[in-house]
Amino acid sequence: MLARAHSFTIEGLEARPVIVEVDIRTGLPAFTIVGLADAAVREARDRVHAAILNAGYEFPGRRITANLAPSDTRKAGAGLDLAIAIAVLAASGQLPHPAFDNMAFFGELALDGQVRACQGTLAVAQSARAASLTTLVLGPERAREAALVDGLRVAVAERLEAAARIACGGPPGRLPSAPRPSTRQNAPTGPDLADIAGQQHAVRALVVAAAGGHNVLLVGPPGTGKTMLAQRLPTILPPLSRSEAIEVTRIHSIAGQLDAGDGLVTRRPFRAPHHTATTAGLVGGAHHGSLGEVVLAHHGVLFLDELSEFSRHAIEALRQPLEDGRVAIVRAQHAAVYPARFMLVGATNPCPCGHAGEVERCRCSEADLARHRRKLSGPLLDRIDLLVHVAPQRAARAGRRPIGVGPDERAVAQTTSAQARGAVVKARERQLARFADQGIGANAHMDVKLVRQYTGLDARGEAMLCSAQERGLLSVRGTHRTMRVARTVADLNGSERVRAEHVAAALAFRPEVALGSALAA
Ligand SMILES: Nc1ncnc2c1ncn2[C@@H]1O[C@H](COP(=O)(O)OP(=O)(O)OP(=O)(O)O)[C@@H](O)[C@H]1O
Ligand SMILES: [Mg+2]
Repeated sequence: MLARAHSFTIEGLEARPVIVEVDIRTGLPAFTIVGLADAAVREARDRVHAAILNAGYEFPGRRITANLAPSDTRKAGAGLDLAIAIAVLAASGQLPHPAFDNMAFFGELALDGQVRACQGTLAVAQSARAASLTTLVLGPERAREAALVDGLRVAVAERLEAAARIACGGPPGRLPSAPRPSTRQNAPTGPDLADIAGQQHAVRALVVAAAGGHNVLLVGPPGTGKTMLAQRLPTILPPLSRSEAIEVTRIHSIAGQLDAGDGLVTRRPFRAPHHTATTAGLVGGAHHGSLGEVVLAHHGVLFLDELSEFSRHAIEALRQPLEDGRVAIVRAQHAAVYPARFMLVGATNPCPCGHAGEVERCRCSEADLARHRRKLSGPLLDRIDLLVHVAPQRAARAGRRPIGVGPDERAVAQTTSAQARGAVVKARERQLARFADQGIGANAHMDVKLVRQYTGLDARGEAMLCSAQERGLLSVRGTHRTMRVARTVADLNGSERVRAEHVAAALAFRPEVALGSALAA
């Protein structure tokens, strides 16, 4: 007898439909799975066998062939177990009134018959909906994730017997209740910007960066608080919009980065890979469907501490995602394009010993300095919007003093994370309203046309930029980056018009302008 069940397999960020066909006929007892299956799928035989017996059914002692169609799609992971088991039960006549043509099954089977959750549940639910299937049968752990998709019935089955009942029209189990708000999911807690003594210029840069989604590089000697500053960035990032949150949840679910019971991710990702990370670890493509840190940082932050210690190759590989907001992986066996729109935050010492500029302390040779500068300058520096020199604090100056000298300073020189976040959220709301029809959410993502459209400078601001260009401090790309940052500074100040003081604030953060004091010491 023949039976069919719908399921899905994850490939990269996609959930691809799979039809599990099971044929049972007389012959020597055998259980074969065919259809481009990976090791985990082939191992399904043993899991399905044990689960069927332990759930109180009979395992047919005949010749069983499970075909996973289409045969040109690679099948990976254990998510097909449940569909295979249901198809075996139906094909062996053990389901009284099978009626599961419109259902998809997705879950790994434990040997005792329990249904376990699998990575990529949200993507599977979205694909099931797109394939016009009405019901998704799965284990309870990730059911809330599937329930994020409108128009799809999520049927919870704790065990194989329950899934078999649902396949015959029986009632599903109860959807687990919403998880208690965890610290990962809700308003930021933990370290606060208020812990940082002084460094107002750097705090201000972080606020501007968070408000407009700009890339920022912190340069300074050891122990000045660069890592400390960057680690506090998550506490001031604006919340994710619903569509961004769905995208982030989908990616992190596929990567297996979500805790069981988590529903929608509501906080922006903050990824901080170690400097020994390989290029494939950063951008992905180590093996078929593997996701890199840039994809996991989508809609969030990629923090590269000790930036100069990363391999040059790895740093160079960030150019495309930084420019396009996506990463194209092309390998001999597979090719894919993944979303990777993140905010880059880098921290580095100004030279290998960390004390460039302090004549008596710096032990680096000219060659060391040149190598260090080469690594950080060029293509990467060109994509940095805000460069901050984090200088050592003298004891007398290490208190928290407001440095407000103009309206901009007062608006962004925030003390606590809560205050900074308030300003960031307001500025981001202005941007969302402005770009409602443009498909972007932050100033950093404006293309040249939008920069011209929304960054109308006053005469003084225009003159300032022209003069910087004439002095050779700004390239054309640098000018556009300055205008985007100036737009964010204006948004932080509630100004629709970008005025000269906003341009001046943006120029103070330009790598070309700040480079003299920070890197080229
Ligand atoms: N501005 C500051 N306010 C309060 N504490 C600070 C500040 N700067 C440094 N510290 C203290 O020094 C420690 C080291 O700071 P941090 O690790 O951020 O330095 P860093 O600039 O990243 O140094 P490195 O270049 O060696 O990585 C912090 O844990 C903190 O205790
Ligand atoms: Mg550090």
